[in-house]
Amino acid sequence: MEKLVIKGGHPLRGTLAISASKNAALSLMAAAVLPQGVTHLARIPKLRDITTFSHVLRITGAAVTRKDTGLQIDATRVGFPEAPYELVKKMRASFYMLGALLGRCGRARVSLPGGCAWGPRPVNLHLEGLAALGAQIDLEEGYVVAQTPRGGVSGGSYRLEPSSVGATINLLLAASLGRGGTRIENAAIEPDVVVFCEMLSAMGARLAGIGTRTIEIEGVQELKAINFSNCPDRIELGTFMIAAAIAGVPGQPVRLTHAHPDHLGEQFIAAFKETGAGCAIADNEVIVTPPESINPVSIETAIYPGFPTDLQAQWTVLLACANGKATVTDQVYGDRFNHIPELARLGLRANVVGNQVTVYGGSQLSGARVMSTDLRASVSLVLAGMIAQGTTHVGRIYHLDRGYEHLEKKLSQCGIDIRREQYDEFAAPQQN
Ligand code: EPZ
Repeated sequence: MEKLVIKGGHPLRGTLAISASKNAALSLMAAAVLPQGVTHLARIPKLRDITTFSHVLRITGAAVTRKDTGLQIDATRVGFPEAPYELVKKMRASFYMLGALLGRCGRARVSLPGGCAWGPRPVNLHLEGLAALGAQIDLEEGYVVAQTPRGGVSGGSYRLEPSSVGATINLLLAASLGRGGTRIENAAIEPDVVVFCEMLSAMGARLAGIGTRTIEIEGVQELKAINFSNCPDRIELGTFMIAAAIAGVPGQPVRLTHAHPDHLGEQFIAAFKETGAGCAIADNEVIVTPPESINPVSIETAIYPGFPTDLQAQWTVLLACANGKATVTDQVYGDRFNHIPELARLGLRANVVGNQVTVYGGSQLSGARVMSTDLRASVSLVLAGMIAQGTTHVGRIYHLDRGYEHLEKKLSQCGIDIRREQYDEFAAPQQN
């Protein structure tokens, strides 16, 4: 097992480069299953989720190879339309294989995703939506067994309530190769979905309404395998903006490069500026000027362009440093607060009621041993360790490795005292 050991109090200085988007990468990999050919995806981050999904693709018969310039996916021999529980349970976006295999093969046997560190995270919209497009959907022993009519889904219309990133992507994967026309209402408009739609279009899909709440797609007989480049990770960008605000030297700018700032949505940017942190936005970079003191700014998460739920744990750490009380309300996932008890071990004063945490800022955090519970919770523990007095051990960082590329290398190059160590979770603490 691995942990990160962080000695707090070392200021963050200099420049951080933003890696490519994990969530967008997964949807682009799923799209690469559709054509009978070799797709090349540039800017695919080296993350556990990418490795896991590469294994999922290989099971279907695709050849996935990491190149210096990205990921090469040869889908010529895709023919085994299955995604097993053992892999899908590790990474729920593997559920995209349902739409991809229905589009490519006309049939699929894909494990239901199972539980998540928080939830609920249902897939009813995926299943009801695919049925509305003409697929036969059955549930057998924890698997979705699906079949389209000959020639692919016949098309139809379906309204997502609530809007869903995953369901939007899954329906488009199935409908891109088929016979009929499909209309998705209340579609997700997250940047990850827009980039995915741009790739489908470049492959020859007949799409209209990209980036709007109503997407229409006309099924085609085949799609082209292409070269395509992924976008920067908006959640990593937001994470590092928060890191700069709380761990930077007041008045000394921190540069975040290779970014796509407008992918963060205006609500996050507005809330960030309200904290008093300087925030200069250029085309592909953000320059953060840490403030002398941080204003307590309450936020509510929402689907894009609202405040991203994937940044609410990190925002909680920013509020711990603020000069007053504020709240974080998650309107997307009602119980995504597993990080609060761990942050409390570092001295966070907060209490959770329903889908809202109230944070009492201004207390000095102190280093301790804490445990990651999920991807975004784990990075909030790293942020807290950076500003805590003393040493923090963040355990089970396999959660972190799912979504942050070279995190300790990036942070240590900017002055943070952070290192990765092996440890035995069951050994006595003094031995670790
Ligand atoms: C995507 O998950 C992201 N994952 C998540 O990021 C992110 O938190 C989430 O969108 C919300 O922004 C990937 O892109 C791989 P949803 P997804 O379907 O697609 C409800 C991370 O940390 N819903 O948009 O699973 C659901 O309960 C991960 O990088 C249904 O009711 O999210 C939620 O309230 C975590 N029925 C809302 O929709 C369904 O069938 C949004 O979920 C599907 C979803």
